Amino acid sequence: MASIPPPLARALVRDVSFTLDAGDRVGIIGESGSGKSLTSLAALDLLPDTLTASGSVRLDGHEIVGRPDAALRSLRGPVAEIVFQEPLTALDPLMRVGRQIAEPLRRHLGLRGAGLREAVARALAEVALPDERVARSFPFELSGGQRQRVAIAIALAAQPRLLIADEPTTALDVTVQDGVLGLMERLVRERGMALLFISHDLAVVSRMVERIVVMQGGAVVEEGPVMRIVREPQHPYTTSLVESARALDAALDAVAPGEGGPS
Ligand SMILES: Nc1ncnc2c1ncn2[C@@H]1O[C@H](COP(=O)(O)OP(=O)(O)OP(=O)(O)O)[C@@H](O)[C@H]1O
Ligand SMILES: [Mg+2]
Repeated sequence: MASIPPPLARALVRDVSFTLDAGDRVGIIGESGSGKSLTSLAALDLLPDTLTASGSVRLDGHEIVGRPDAALRSLRGPVAEIVFQEPLTALDPLMRVGRQIAEPLRRHLGLRGAGLREAVARALAEVALPDERVARSFPFELSGGQRQRVAIAIALAAQPRLLIADEPTTALDVTVQDGVLGLMERLVRERGMALLFISHDLAVVSRMVERIVVMQGGAVVEEGPVMRIVREPQHPYTTSLVESARALDAALDAVAPGEGGPS
């Protein structure tokens, strides 16, 4: 899918093919460098300039590969949005959070004045942030978990039908991660949105999606429903992922016997 143009041509990701229908929740799992992020960036035509995608990517029926930028930008927002691992890279460091949330509401939903202010407050309430204080803050004044909640509020502002989340909680500590994942899961369900959720953590992916695509070395090695992948992995790489997740579970049980679960 993603490749450097000739003469340096070397495919970084090959033969990736999958479909997300309305309301589907699909996970991509794979080790670092397996091509998860490039796949999701290609799906929204957000690849870096030095890389190109070939083949076909259809977003809401529109072909993306080779399409002019301007036409694409109108699809992003209402159709699909992305949440990245480190929200500081996605947020504008010099703009107060309230204005950053207002931007997509104004651009895609045409809100102005009091209606816009109310929508910003609603968006912050939905991600469980105290709106008054947070709206006036700059990103650096917030905690990592709060920043990720703001990034989710911005991504959801234009009511996209597809949310892509690329390791949205990897930078957060475990308890904060839990809150952000729970929030994202609830919002996606309530709105009937499709979700493409990327992670290297099988336990996290399994919680968020119904179907998993397993990538290794720039290619898809296996795809199937979560239960089938976890119970009967077909590919040796998937088997190793399942086994290491089990080993971690067992190690945690050994450290804290009975804690927090049925004993
Ligand atoms: N801009 C780029 N130019 C050249 N090669 C790149 C570029 N971005 C990524 N790559 C390479 O493409 C491959 C896939 O990268 P990608 O970022 O998709 O991996 P990933 O599965 O998301 O990994 P991680 O779990 O670490 O985020 C890697 O070998 C990476 O080094
Ligand atoms: Mg990545």
